[in-house]
Amino acid sequence: MKIAIGSDHAGFAYKEPIIELLRQLEHEVFDLGTNSETSTDYPVYAFKVGEAIRDKIADLGILICGTGIGVSIAANKVKGVRAGACQSEFAAKMMREHNDANILCLGSRINTLEEALNFVKIYLQSEYSAGPRHQRRIDIIYKYEEDGKWEK
Ligand code: RB5
Repeated sequence: MKIAIGSDHAGFAYKEPIIELLRQLEHEVFDLGTNSETSTDYPVYAFKVGEAIRDKIADLGILICGTGIGVSIAANKVKGVRAGACQSEFAAKMMREHNDANILCLGSRINTLEEALNFVKIYLQSEYSAGPRHQRRIDIIYKYEEDGKWEK
């Protein structure tokens, strides 16, 4: 799979080990920065990874900041992105199975590197269940993205 990855300074230390794991698993990786621990702004990397998903350059994305929350808030502003902040194995699995999340967001100040690597593996091994109720809910989001209206 093609996977875009990005982090801010707080997530930078986790980015290389995650890239290494992705390459071991034979994924093609697009590293969209940041490239040091110099303070920077997480929305920049969230938008770069989000746009790689939107533009179909990547199939899935991974974002890392201190909490996984800032990058998820920003990435979800990009059309077609469903980014989920992940702090547990259960969330890593469910965001794929129920929400068809196309970006996994991790928090380096919440989870250890070992936990984060495990979440990446679980997320990639899981599959969207494509059940009609899940698809209906995602379609409600799609419609809202298109015309700012929701209906059930
Ligand atoms: C950076 O200090 C921190 O605020 C950022 O990495 C992230 O946790 C924001 O949600």
